[in-house]
Amino acid sequence: MSVKAILVADDERHLRSALFTALTRLGHAVELAENGREAVDKFQAQRFDLVVTDLRMPALDGLGVLKTVKKLSPATPVIMITAYGEVETAVEAMREGAQDFILKPFPAGVIEESVNRALAVSSAGQSAARPAAAPAASSAAKSGERPIITRSPRMLKLLAMARQVAASPATVLLQGESGTGKELLARFIHQNSPRAGGPFVALNCASLPESLLESELFGHEKGAFTGAVARKQGKFELADGGTILLDEISEMDLALQAKLLRVLQEGEIDRVGGKEPQKIDVRVIATTNRNLKEWVAAGKFRADLYYRLNVIPFFIPSLKDRVDDLPLLAEHFRKKYAALNKKQVEALSPAALKALSSYPWPGNIRELENTLARGVLLAGGPAVEPHDLFMDEAGFMAALERSAPAPAAPPQTAGPDEPGPESNLFSGLDPAAAAALPAPAGGQLMTIEEMERQLIGQALNETDGNRTHAARILGISVRTLRNKLAEYRVSAA
Ligand SMILES: Nc1ncnc2c1ncn2[C@@H]1O[C@H](COP(=O)(O)OP(=O)(O)OP(=O)(O)O)[C@@H](O)[C@H]1O
Ligand SMILES: [Mg+2]
Repeated sequence: MSVKAILVADDERHLRSALFTALTRLGHAVELAENGREAVDKFQAQRFDLVVTDLRMPALDGLGVLKTVKKLSPATPVIMITAYGEVETAVEAMREGAQDFILKPFPAGVIEESVNRALAVSSAGQSAARPAAAPAASSAAKSGERPIITRSPRMLKLLAMARQVAASPATVLLQGESGTGKELLARFIHQNSPRAGGPFVALNCASLPESLLESELFGHEKGAFTGAVARKQGKFELADGGTILLDEISEMDLALQAKLLRVLQEGEIDRVGGKEPQKIDVRVIATTNRNLKEWVAAGKFRADLYYRLNVIPFFIPSLKDRVDDLPLLAEHFRKKYAALNKKQVEALSPAALKALSSYPWPGNIRELENTLARGVLLAGGPAVEPHDLFMDEAGFMAALERSAPAPAAPPQTAGPDEPGPESNLFSGLDPAAAAALPAPAGGQLMTIEEMERQLIGQALNETDGNRTHAARILGISVRTLRNKLAEYRVSAA
């Protein structure tokens, strides 16, 4: 890259000189300003290829610098430097056209990367046509295949912070209700980190019995225990050089928590039955939908592990607290499922949108996505109508009755969550509902057990074997699912 002229504005002498050193080391010509006023004066006298400015400064703050620069030269990228408590203003700065923002304190590598990126963009000529103030109507931040759709200021702030945090190897704890997008955010952090080329390995701590979790995490040697017929690599080993996602970390038992803490402290793992610890380089992201702090207070979670994990905490807001996002997400999923099913469903009717907006979404975005998937499938016309959405059990039944009037079914007793010994996934479902379920291949009738097996298989397939998710889709508890699977194993033997 050719030599670029960079203007740095910061009122802290140490930071100024650190930035000067870092940027001249990259081979650029750096000019310094001690406050916003001086920066603007210098920019008026001479054009720079890039401006790096602190947000809080005397005389004129970083936002003022940004606005002037953008007015005089819309194509010049501006990078903001902010302190932790100023993230809100930083988001505003992004709206005003800032290229990036960097959270203090930062290692030299972060600013170098940001500067390289900004200069690459501007020399590609992309920013020449960039409007001075590009309103951030929505953000489609990439996390692999799945975009993160949001326009909520809280989420935008969170994504900006996630991008920053991604650059460091710090452990991240993602807290949020079920279905809020914790895994999506974890993938986003991985994708935006220097480890993006490495593996991303996820393990749900609730999906395995305690006895298996340890060897799943750390691997085991041949003969370590009955059934360990061969050496097995653990998830940590598989994630070497990349990121491991420990889902539902609260479900890990205390003994294993102690082992995990050691891994985080020492950067090495002990295979079950192994003699030598093994060095690993893995970034840990943990998620929980419980209040881990309360678990610590109740003695169910180790305080030292909690603090170790909680270096950088993220709280993902529930969907009901992101009202801005609801129509945006609903539209996104409508389009996605219309395309997937090759159906001409071109809109959500205003009434449908209203119905969606008045629902509290306890299952958050996952529930919204499932609702729209169903809504698009069931839509009889060009728009999704409220009755296509089946927002609750009653609505579901009513809709089924409309589509297939059937004699009233006798009331069932077993709830879907903890069925009695005789029950199956279909208890509580009336015959009309059963009629609407997927027909077996070849049109032959199946027994309820066969159907149940097939549904469980499908759910596990769709969730890549994630039992928690599969159980949620099926509307049963993880324990029930586990029991069912054990039953099948017995009957198959
Ligand atoms: N902002 C978003 N934009 C688009 N899709 C989203 C968004 N947030 C979540 N989703 C989708 O919603 C579903 C649930 O997200 P995810 O699995 O990340 O949630 P989670 O918090 O990990 O849930 P759980 O606690 O149940 O494991 C996924 O299909 C995901 O792609
Ligand atoms: Mg998850």
